[in-house]
Amino acid sequence: MSYAALSTPEIVVGLDLGSTKVSAVVGEVDADGITILGVGNVPCRGLRKGVISNIEWTVRSIREAIDAAQTMAGVEIRTVYAGIAGSHIRSHMSDGVCAISGREVTRGDLERVLEGARAIPVDADRMILHALPREYVVDNQDGIRDPIGMSGVRLQVRCNLVTAATSCVQNVVRCVERCNLQVADVVLEPLASADAVVSEDEKEIGVAVIDIGGGTTDLILFADGGVAHVSVIPAGGNNITSDVAAGLRTPMAEAERLKRNYGCALGRMVNDDEEIEVPGVGGHGPRRAARRLLSDIIEPRVEEIFSEARRRIEETGLLEQVSSGCVLTGGAALMEGMVECAEEILGMPVRLGFPVGVRGIVQLVQGPQYATGVGLVRYGAQQLADACPRGGLVSVEQAVGPSEATPKQKSGLWSWIRAAF
Ligand SMILES: Nc1ncnc2c1ncn2[C@@H]1O[C@H](COP(=O)(O)OP(=O)(O)OP(=O)(O)O)[C@@H](O)[C@H]1O
Ligand SMILES: [Mg+2]
Repeated sequence: MSYAALSTPEIVVGLDLGSTKVSAVVGEVDADGITILGVGNVPCRGLRKGVISNIEWTVRSIREAIDAAQTMAGVEIRTVYAGIAGSHIRSHMSDGVCAISGREVTRGDLERVLEGARAIPVDADRMILHALPREYVVDNQDGIRDPIGMSGVRLQVRCNLVTAATSCVQNVVRCVERCNLQVADVVLEPLASADAVVSEDEKEIGVAVIDIGGGTTDLILFADGGVAHVSVIPAGGNNITSDVAAGLRTPMAEAERLKRNYGCALGRMVNDDEEIEVPGVGGHGPRRAARRLLSDIIEPRVEEIFSEARRRIEETGLLEQVSSGCVLTGGAALMEGMVECAEEILGMPVRLGFPVGVRGIVQLVQGPQYATGVGLVRYGAQQLADACPRGGLVSVEQAVGPSEATPKQKSGLWSWIRAAF
């Protein structure tokens, strides 16, 4: 990541709309990097499995999170990079080709060839969220990451097209705009999370990032430096909590507390003599239970999630290419035994992914549940840097403001969505 093109500091705000919380992360980006200035974190019940299901509740949480973040940061927030997830997200490969007639490849050629890759029919109720280049081919030379400056007659791109249900994207934009904020871009949450927790080297060697949140588990695969697969598994930490509540016959809030404090994803890591106190439900008093019982409830659900992730990785045929293993992030990754369980089921090295690559008040965003918020700031910062013409100066308004300036805002579909309001 390089923000060297930025000659004046800019404010970038990431808005993570999660199934359990809304996080607004305010960063200041300059040529040296990103400084976190403020964070607003508010519980939210307006989303189900990563998709907005209650506009009012979501708007209220966004307002509160933004208010808290701007008070802490001491800046006025006008524009945000908003995250989107949910099982409506799909990805598939698409190729684009354009002629370069023997001259050097320019940035304009890259835009043209990507436009070509985007020009495929998508269902009427879906829109393209991202066209993520995996490799470029100049004449017969493939595997090129950055073709700018190379000469040839034919430029081809192989990219991963990520599509989303238009109504879900509209709802994100609608909620943000109801808070008198502008959406600079709607960004795929797993893409943002991965950006915050894995290095460019890992992406190059091949890595799987699994973000286990409250409502969903997002899977993103990188091979040869590019995104090779994205999908969303509709299960997460909330399912574990429900299983615990039903299995131990205890209220949801108590199940959540027991899960966080004593939960373990691998039963055999728990000593048989450990006990926990389980509050009763419906007038029943508390009782003692083996901690092993709790992990026996949790383990099958975690196994189910990782088995599904493995099945999806195998289906892409990329299992062998994920050489640097898997990075687990998202709040539910914090549970004891998650890494060990993932290693067993995925059959690869697994580590926990904490957000990196930022400075400032990092202690507020150091948990894996902030990977998406921090990643959205990093994504926005990169967009701003890319929009700067060779070290030139671009203000926030010029780069992401109401004028159509970001790549997606330029696209016809984006204009169409905005016009639809
Ligand atoms: N220490 C912990 N042990 C176990 N689970 C935890 C712990 N801390 C948080 N969680 C779980 O993490 C989940 C929330 O994670 P996160 O904040 O990443 O989700 P989200 O972004 O709101 O949801 P999603 O990404 O699915 O839309 C909750 O289910 C919560 O119970
Ligand atoms: Mg999340």
